Amino acid sequence: MSNDMSRRSFLKKGTAVAAGLAVAPGIIMAGETPKDNKKKKKVTPPEKLKILGVGIGGRGAADLREMETEDIIGLCDVDWKYADHIFKRYPNAKKYNDYRVMFDEMLDQADAVMIATADHTHAIIAAQAIAAGKHVYCEKPLTLTVYEARLLTKLAAKHKVATQMGNQGSSGAGTRQAIEWLWNGEIGEVTRVDCFTDRPIWPQGLEKPTEVQPIPSTLNWDAFIGPAPMRDYNEIYHPWNFRGWWDFGTGAMGDMACHIMHVPFKGLKLGYPIKAQASSTPVLTDCCPSAEMIKLTFPARENLPKLALPEVEVRWYDGGFKPERPEGIPEGVNLNTDGGCSIFYGTKDIMVVGCYGNKPYLLSGRKPEVPHVLREVTVSHQQDWIRACKECMVDPDNFTRSNSDFCEAGPFVEMVDLGVAAVRLQDLNQILDWDGQKMQFTNIPAEAKIRFQIHDGFTIKDGHPTFAKTYTEPVNAREFAASLIKKQYREGYVLPDMPE
Ligand SMILES: NC(=O)c1ccc[n+]([C@@H]2O[C@H](COP(=O)([O-])OP(=O)(O)OC[C@H]3O[C@@H](n4cnc5c(N)ncnc54)[C@H](O)[C@@H]3O)[C@@H](O)[C@H]2O)c1
Repeated sequence: MSNDMSRRSFLKKGTAVAAGLAVAPGIIMAGETPKDNKKKKKVTPPEKLKILGVGIGGRGAADLREMETEDIIGLCDVDWKYADHIFKRYPNAKKYNDYRVMFDEMLDQADAVMIATADHTHAIIAAQAIAAGKHVYCEKPLTLTVYEARLLTKLAAKHKVATQMGNQGSSGAGTRQAIEWLWNGEIGEVTRVDCFTDRPIWPQGLEKPTEVQPIPSTLNWDAFIGPAPMRDYNEIYHPWNFRGWWDFGTGAMGDMACHIMHVPFKGLKLGYPIKAQASSTPVLTDCCPSAEMIKLTFPARENLPKLALPEVEVRWYDGGFKPERPEGIPEGVNLNTDGGCSIFYGTKDIMVVGCYGNKPYLLSGRKPEVPHVLREVTVSHQQDWIRACKECMVDPDNFTRSNSDFCEAGPFVEMVDLGVAAVRLQDLNQILDWDGQKMQFTNIPAEAKIRFQIHDGFTIKDGHPTFAKTYTEPVNAREFAASLIKKQYREGYVLPDMPE
């Protein structure tokens, strides 16, 4: 196999597919049937889907295990040592270390793609798979940026594929119960939600390493970097710790809000925020801060039959910060359920929901019996996506979407990515106004500048504490903000165009 030839031909194909995306329908919102601008062929689904897996050494291994009812035909991981045990588990799958080569050789044969790579490569891999008409399961957070999330939402709608983000709690019984309580008006109108996680449990708040380490022979570092700017290898980035570095992850919020904020997002039909502000431990050039607080404000939304949806403030805390304890919660009760929680302040009651939507309870102690209005998922989150893929093949215009289909997960992750961007813009010392439709901050002054800490520089000199912080040169804040919303990709990585 000639890798160079394969890569070139895949990239050429990717561009051609992208060019075909000029005419497209709008976003499908959860529960809606896609507008049929172009009929997609109905096919009889195969008994077993043919699945490609990308990023298999960590969470991807667990996702694949839940997909073993199907045929795993190809696997790609940049680190053949870390992923060795998973390659061995699927000896019939062809083995790759660059997804572009695998797509070039095998995407045509596949029905679906599972993605559990480092976060910064989710969008490019998912977008290219969807543009080729493949169903996609992608781990959380779906993307690093608002633009990428919007793109995946629109591409999935245009190509009429079944999609699922890996926030498995969205298929869980707790999520269903909490949302049904909310929609039945059990806690009344909600104007405040506080959320927190006990993460990060990986390093954050670090200065960029200066040591250049040799790249292990089993690691395709260039493919790990993917669309991000190239940087020297250091073991601090991979495996697992990528989540704490801006080029590769979104810190504790991006990592965990996709689990913890899902009930607030869906249950209160949040949509786009209109304001964001954040504070944290020092904002560094490369590594996410050790602890963050973020406030997002959402305007009033259309009321539900039994629940009015007035303006609501949603706060996020991580890195050891926690929201204040709600009045009435017994002393000694730990609010941390399975990694965090969200606290809904209603006019009639307060509801606490654990991470992944687990174990919701009302502070009054009531256990409401309410009508079931949400579909019960009786299989795993991954298996429910497989069901959706097969149903989508039979009727792409009318199938039951899985619970974190990109029509919902895309807008949800836009909210999460926006909160993360606000952390990096806090040096502006202002409440940021956000225009969700246009994907723009609207009140950053044209001449405003922003800078980041490079080095702490604290030493004891001759017995005296000495402070010598160094900062980057100030950059234009509007331009920097725009780069957080839509990232520049490294050469060789091209996203399909945004459908209309
Ligand atoms: N849903 C959940 O509960 C859950 C739990 C853990 C992780 N995750 C998500 O799963 C993803 C992976 O996290 P992890 O903890 O497994 O990290 P990890 O580093 O342990 O595993 C990632 C795997 O992907 C490989 N990889 C990285 N970039 C790649 C690329 N461009 N192409 C091919 N392979 C690549 C790595 O070598 C590794 O084997 C993240 O997005 C994370 O947020 C979800």
